[in-house]
Amino acid sequence: MFGFKGKKQPTIDSNETLDLQRIPKHVAIIMDGNGRWAQQRHLPRIAGHKEGMNTVKKITMVANDLGIQVLTLYAFSTENWKRPDQEVNYLMGLPVTFFDTFVPELIANNIQVQVIGYTDQLPAKTQKAVNNAIEQTKNNTGMVLNFALNYGSRAEIVSAVQAISQEVVTNNLTIEAIDETLISEHLMTKQLNELADPDVIIRTSGEQRISNFLLWQIAYSEFVFIDEHWPAVDATIFKHALFLYQKRDRRFGGLNK
Ligand code: IPE
Ligand code: IPE
Ligand code: MG
Repeated sequence: MFGFKGKKQPTIDSNETLDLQRIPKHVAIIMDGNGRWAQQRHLPRIAGHKEGMNTVKKITMVANDLGIQVLTLYAFSTENWKRPDQEVNYLMGLPVTFFDTFVPELIANNIQVQVIGYTDQLPAKTQKAVNNAIEQTKNNTGMVLNFALNYGSRAEIVSAVQAISQEVVTNNLTIEAIDETLISEHLMTKQLNELADPDVIIRTSGEQRISNFLLWQIAYSEFVFIDEHWPAVDATIFKHALFLYQKRDRRFGGLNK
């Protein structure tokens, strides 16, 4: 079956055509497998992260050309600090290189950078690169390129509960006023407004788990798992993942006709 680890990926049928009227508005990607991609080539894991950065550039442009409105990319989780210092340091330097080389292209394509995650805990140089990119692209009105950086969904929910509790204590927010909308408004994805919830979550590298990504927001997202490691993803593979999404029947608990 497609999507299972260790099995050969079926050849992608070149007749697969995307329905351009039904392109998902918000696509979220768990970019996994950089390390394995490198190890298969007898390279250090960081070589995989470097190549993964190039894939981010490529897929950003493909997503933009397809008319996707929000592309959320899981770049560093609150659990990724557990990795060796050398790897974490390399990952913290990547946004600096990425934005240094890519912001002009983002501006040329009217793409706006946003970030979800605890960015205040990142090293100063990383924060600076991220904040500059957000500032330089803030007036762009096209696709939102939303990086999840030092993001963890459980931590995000804890922060939301703390903030709401504080409002109950200090601002006379009533318990009855706490509803789904209010909770959504206290999550980091609030800045995406009505596009906060992804239509589809794509995870590369064959792993079939969520790894603390957008737990509240994915209540009705479609999950697409593909076997390729992130650095090996190209336009064809990305479009194939969207093709699989388009074959799904989204019912949101109701009935379709
Ligand atoms: C994804 O690739 C990138 C990050 C989590 C930062 P990995 O580094 O997790 O690669 P694998 O899963 O070990 O192959
Ligand atoms: C998820 O990948 C986080 C990112 C892609 C940034 P991981 O490689 O950290 O997840 P696990 O450890 O396999 O669950
Ligand atoms: Mg991984």
